[in-house]
This record gives sequence, structure tokens and C-alpha cells, in this order.
Amino acid sequence: MFSFDRLTVPIAGAPMAGGASTSALTAAVSNAGGLGFYGGAYLTPERLRATINEIRTLTDAPFGVNLFVPEEIPFDEQAFTTYRDRLVPLAERLDAPLPENVAFTDDDFDAKVQVLIDERVPVASFTFGCPDAATIDRLHAADVFVAGTVTCVDEALLAREAGVDALCAQGVSAGGHRGTFRILDDDPGFDTLTLLTAVVDATGLPVVAAGGVGSRADVVALIDAGATAVQIGTLLLRCPEAGTKQAHRDALVDPRFAETATTRAYSGRLARGLVNDFIAAHTAAAPPVYPQINTLTGGIRRAGSADPEVINLWAGTGFRAAQAIPAAEVVAALRP
Ligand SMILES: Cc1cc2nc3c(=O)[nH]c(=O)nc-3n(C[C@H](O)[C@H](O)[C@H](O)COP(=O)(O)O)c2cc1C
Repeated sequence: MFSFDRLTVPIAGAPMAGGASTSALTAAVSNAGGLGFYGGAYLTPERLRATINEIRTLTDAPFGVNLFVPEEIPFDEQAFTTYRDRLVPLAERLDAPLPENVAFTDDDFDAKVQVLIDERVPVASFTFGCPDAATIDRLHAADVFVAGTVTCVDEALLAREAGVDALCAQGVSAGGHRGTFRILDDDPGFDTLTLLTAVVDATGLPVVAAGGVGSRADVVALIDAGATAVQIGTLLLRCPEAGTKQAHRDALVDPRFAETATTRAYSGRLARGLVNDFIAAHTAAAPPVYPQINTLTGGIRRAGSADPEVINLWAGTGFRAAQAIPAAEVVAALRP
């Protein structure tokens, strides 16, 4: 089974579902001595299987695959409809579809877990919750190392109880979706260093620290504070191997986008991105209705894919340090 001793650089390349993750990026981080992750959310099980096989043609080193754990909560139709109404003018301007009825989806979670088992991926990581102990046992039986993403100590203890081998402690400065277990929960809001030390103390498990990392000094500080490895997402977004949209790459260096914020405006779940017109206009009104709001805004995001004021520009607070250089160089520059 995977062990962090296998890494020559204690850096994990974050899973980044929705486009930024590519087989090439995952393999590049692993080939550089780190642990490359692939974000397997939103993919069909068949596509996920093909992607895992593709990663294996690009690297012999260990890599990980990440999935979103589903949570079905009662659908708040009123909140959904009110939010939909305010998106109508934008959808009309972009000529984008805006569905009236959106069904819950579990993103084919069980089938995708089975793919990870069948393919015996070296590492499986999870966010938005923790799989149950039986699922983790099945992964272990296939020699899969299991990591759970947490944003507070309570979540870390639940994940340990379920049997994970390691934790990813995701501080509030992290780009993209918050890993908070429950959709309706507020963001615990811990900075990465505070969360890391609390989670190491409370669980004794290996902990990967994530959130806001922009420099080698950040990595050294987290390793010194007890992190087994450090996970970077935003720092990889401008790499040639990443699948990041051009408008997103450009926004990361555009002085027009000067700050990040967390918002439920795109998906109904909290996520951190560069503040643009969409976030400014809709954050205050966005309800915690996930994944239906994610599906609702999909047409708008596709129709506005070249417009940085429309699309989700996921980014952590260290976004200005992201460079347009190969992932191997990003990883090498962070070696503590
Ligand atoms: C574009 C983007 C997409 C992300 N998608 C996922 C994902 O699919 N699964 C996941 O566990 N984390 C995801 N994250 C969060 C990362 O795992 C990680 O916590 C975060 O990138 C660390 O903070 P940083 O961006 O400041 O380096 C994403 C982050 C970004 C920037």
C-alpha cells in the first residue's frame, strides 16, 4: 500500500475536478516526486476508468484519485426557484439554458468507488464528507490508501473513526470547494496552520496541509508544524499541463481581480474564487442547495466560458504566486 515515504518531495498536487485536473498534470506531479491527484468528480465511471488508465501510461509513480461524497438533504424548492429567478437576465443575455427542474445526483459515487477498487488506484481521497467504514474496508482490501479531507477537528475525528489512513486538513484560504462535511454547515474558517496543528494533535494520523500555499517558505512552515505533506491547487492552475480555461488563467494575473472570497453562488456549496461580477452580484442571495444549484448554473458557466466575470475563477489566497511554468518546476521550487 502507498506510504508517504515513497515521495521524494512532500508535495501533493490537488485534485481539481471540473476541468483543471488532467492526466498530464496528475502524472507530472507524481513524476516530479510528489503525489499527483486527479479530481474524479463530475466524470462518468467509464470516463474515470479511462482516465486512470491514461495516468498509468504517463507515470509509474503513485498517484491519487479524489471523489465527492454525496449528501442528500431535503430539496428547498422555494430557495432554488427564488435563486433561479435572479439568474434569468444573465441566462437570457448569454442565451444559456436555465433548467426549471433539477434532480439530485450522487455523481455515481458507488460506481466510481468500485472503479477505484477495480483499478486498485494507489490512493483514494474524498471531500464533502467521509465514506462509511465498510467502503473504506473495501478500498483497503484492494490495497488502496484512503485519505479524507477535513476542515475542523470534529470532521477529522469522524474520518479517523471511519478508518482513513491520512487526512487532508484544508484551511479556509484554500481555492475551490470547501471540504466541509455538511452542506448546511457554516465554514469552520480555520487557517491552514491552526487547523493542521489541531488535527495532528487530535488524531495522530499523517496530515496533508492544504490552503493558501504560495511559496517554499509556506511549505517549510507547514512541515515544521507537523504536516506529512503539503497540498497545492492554485499554484498548479497556470501550468501548461493543467486543463484550466484561458479566461481563468488570465484572471489569475489580471490586476482587475485582486481578491478572493468564499461563495455558494455557483454550486450551493461554499467555494473560494476570485471575486468577479457573478460572485459580487449573487453571493448574498445564494442558498445552500447542492448539487442542484451547481447543475442550475452549468449552462451559464458553459455559455460564458470565455468571460471571467461569469465563470467560477476558483483560487486560493496565494493566487498571485501561480506561474505559467511546468508542474515539475512548481514542485521542485517548493522542495523544503
Ligand atoms: C480549481 C480547483 C478545483 C478543486 N477541485 C477539488 C476537487 O475536485 N476535490 C478536492 O478535494 N479539492 C478540490 N479543490 C481544493 C484542493 O484540493 C485544495 O484544497 C486547494 O486547492 C488548496 O488550496 P490552494 O488552492 O490555495 O493551494 C480544488 C481547488 C481548485 C483551485
